[in-house]
Amino acid sequence: MSIIKVHDKEFQPYIGAEELQLRIKEIAAQISKDLAGEKPLFIAILNGSFMFAADVFKYLDIEAEISFIKLVSYKGTKSTGNVVTSIGLDEDLYGRTVVILEDIVDTGKTLNMFLPQLHHQQPKKLLIAALLTKPEALTYPINIDYLGFSVPNKFLLGYGLDYDGLGRNLPQIYQLIEQ
Ligand code: IMP
Ligand code: MG
Repeated sequence: MSIIKVHDKEFQPYIGAEELQLRIKEIAAQISKDLAGEKPLFIAILNGSFMFAADVFKYLDIEAEISFIKLVSYKGTKSTGNVVTSIGLDEDLYGRTVVILEDIVDTGKTLNMFLPQLHHQQPKKLLIAALLTKPEALTYPINIDYLGFSVPNKFLLGYGLDYDGLGRNLPQIYQLIEQ
């Protein structure tokens, strides 16, 4: 087994590149079937989702648009708590079919705080496609419409996911070896 070291930690192969591609093709086929004729707008959440977004998008066989955003969280007022806002979203979502592309839904906190802002623009549909989710870690309710894999609550790396900035370029997903 080819173990890799990134910064101070060791990781073992977890989901192979081929398995990822097969699953992503299935997701793209399902989305193409469900949303044919709707000209959906895909919104990829950077940085982590760039590989997943590129692969889903290239396997679609319907007309679709894509836009990339970054989520920024900051401390709001006492009553609002932490606030998550986006940069880079120029499109008007009113009446549109929107599909969020996310690498991994972990606690669900980020999306849970951000989705109300999108709903506010009154899209026709707001769907979520996530490559990965960790059900044991999920503490904020998030309904994932298109899911790649459910995984145990262990740190993952590769295929867009980083450990302190590194590892995003790996074509497969690795799992942290806990010492
Ligand atoms: P959440 O708000 O807890 O759902 O966090 C979601 C974000 O945390 C994801 O979009 C990832 O960028 C990051 N994240 C969560 N789990 C992992 C992991 O195992 N490896 C790398 N990044 C992760
Ligand atoms: Mg992310």
